[in-house]
Amino acid sequence: MASIDRPIRDHHARRRGPALLAVLLLLITGGCGWLKRQAYEGGDRDSWQQPEKVVAALALAPNAEVADLGAGGGYFTFRLADAVPQGRVYAVDVDEDMTRYLEERSVEEGRRNVTVVLAEPEDAGLPGQVDWVFTCNTFHHLPDQAAYFERLKASLAPGGRVAIVEYVPEEGFSLLGDHATGEDSIRAAMEQAGYELEADHSFLARQSFLVFAPRP
Ligand SMILES: C[S@@+](CC[C@H](N)C(=O)[O-])C[C@H]1O[C@@H](n2cnc3c(N)ncnc32)[C@H](O)[C@@H]1O
Repeated sequence: MASIDRPIRDHHARRRGPALLAVLLLLITGGCGWLKRQAYEGGDRDSWQQPEKVVAALALAPNAEVADLGAGGGYFTFRLADAVPQGRVYAVDVDEDMTRYLEERSVEEGRRNVTVVLAEPEDAGLPGQVDWVFTCNTFHHLPDQAAYFERLKASLAPGGRVAIVEYVPEEGFSLLGDHATGEDSIRAAMEQAGYELEADHSFLARQSFLVFAPRP
């Protein structure tokens, strides 16, 4: 009797997909710091993130004080710290797993110009004024962004700037889900917060990169 080759279907695969994703999200949103850092930094991130070019575009003075808002695993924190050898980087995050890791890494690497700040969701908790607030892939996490950045003006030194790098929403289904904000929405929130656009860097394929100054 001739045998018929039928495609072997795993009827459980469809159910396993969302379950695996749910477990991954639980680990990320739960207490697994290592996994969170992998999720934020990914394997090939440098290729599309172009961190050196991003930092160079800020043209930081060597003694600048910079807040890395939503520092995560420090992907930008330590690069920013290298760019301001006589300045300081405040690595700000609300997640204790991240701030603990940043503290440990700062000590291990003998970083003298990194200060880690455990923030409240609505308050960056900066100890003083800074020249730059830099934030990458964090804008969408901030509650009521217009109100947040309005309050944050008090933490900007004269001439201070805010640089926002944020995922651009993708068409159709995206694993990023809500972890992205359209450039128009960022501009509108910052306008409402009392800032004007100073630079729109267009070299990142997946993210917008906007720089704002407080409106005089
Ligand atoms: C997607 S990660 C980005 C991390 C890092 N900036 C990077 O580019 O790899 C977002 C980070 O923002 C932090 N975050 C969320 N809400 C925040 C808030 N209200 N204030 C400060 N940080 C916040 C999260 O804990 C997380 O570490």
